[in-house]
Amino acid sequence: MRGDARGQRLVIHLRLAGAAIVALAIFALDVLSPLQGAVAVLYTTVVLLAARTGKRDLVIAAGTVGAGLAAIAYLISHSAEPLGSPAMRLTVSLVANGITTFLSIRHLAEIDQRRSTQARLDQAQAELAHVSRLNLLGQMGASIAHEINQPLSAIVTYAKSGQRWLARAEPDAAEAADCLDHIAANATRAADIIGRIRDIARRAEPRQDHFALAALVSETVALLQRDLQSHDVVIRTAIAPDLPVLWGDRVQIQQVLMNLMLNADQAMTQTPASRRELLLEAARDGGEVTVAVSDRGPGLPNDTEPLFEPFRSTKPDGMGMGLSISRAIIERHAGRLTSANRAEGGASFRFTLPILQGSGA
Ligand SMILES: Nc1ncnc2c1ncn2[C@@H]1O[C@H](COP(=O)(O)OP(=O)(O)OP(=O)(O)O)[C@@H](O)[C@H]1O
Ligand SMILES: [Mg+2]
Repeated sequence: MRGDARGQRLVIHLRLAGAAIVALAIFALDVLSPLQGAVAVLYTTVVLLAARTGKRDLVIAAGTVGAGLAAIAYLISHSAEPLGSPAMRLTVSLVANGITTFLSIRHLAEIDQRRSTQARLDQAQAELAHVSRLNLLGQMGASIAHEINQPLSAIVTYAKSGQRWLARAEPDAAEAADCLDHIAANATRAADIIGRIRDIARRAEPRQDHFALAALVSETVALLQRDLQSHDVVIRTAIAPDLPVLWGDRVQIQQVLMNLMLNADQAMTQTPASRRELLLEAARDGGEVTVAVSDRGPGLPNDTEPLFEPFRSTKPDGMGMGLSISRAIIERHAGRLTSANRAEGGASFRFTLPILQGSGA
């Protein structure tokens, strides 16, 4: 940077030296030549040379020096004569010099204006990039907070349960060890989820792996069974026996299933306890697999698109992140997440995942 500035200063000095030499040459020509005054128009070239330095002060100085030298040359050569055509030519030269100086200064001012507009634009762009990074950070934080809530509360539940097994008159080490296994599994899941959310924020490709959908569904049901049972929700599953092995990010697809199941659970808080049923269906449908989570809650408004936007929630303690995260995950897997009301009442959320060639049956 400092080398650049020094280089620029050198160029300015060279240009000034060139302009000074040209000015002196014009002066000598003006005084000595028989052209008598017409040469002074050439001082405009000195002004133009000074303008190339980009400095307003130097342009004014060049204009002033040119006018002064033209006047001195006139006085040397014609002071003894009465006013005539040399004086006329001097006037024309001075006017030309003045106009060139004025136009050069205006041109430099325009360049300055353009530069400062560009600088402001660059600054605005830098600020925008900063804001969008903050935005991304905010969404990432919200997503992590949302998604690890469930494993964290599972960890607390198992920890308390383990403590109770150990506090008995006859402590049960096997049950306590089982609780510790659950704690470890949920902590691992929380760490996996954070990794996946970082992937989404970095716009990295989804981690691709083979996974059996049927096994994923039963594992997710097992994870949520306790919670849902405590709310009197019965889980009914209808999983087709011919489901293929899928290709995608198992952890993320499990998050989608969980978000939809938790929404279904929360939607049925006002439903009479005896009617609370969550239906989980998975079937093969042509070149894709369809998974549907249906409930017996109040159903959905006509336009459900806003529900998929981040931070849209009708729940007092909702973050409004579940559906937006789920849709982003499914779309990253080239699938679709849609919603509909059920004829018998309640809502149904359905996602598809493509069966890729070679994923096997
Ligand atoms: N099964 C459902 N039945 C009725 N309304 C639903 C259902 N699922 C979602 N909604 C509506 O969509 C909104 C957005 O859901 P989303 O899961 O994105 O956020 P949330 O559940 O409110 O909060 P959280 O971020 O904690 O999940 C909900 O507030 C609710 O109004
Ligand atoms: Mg939700």
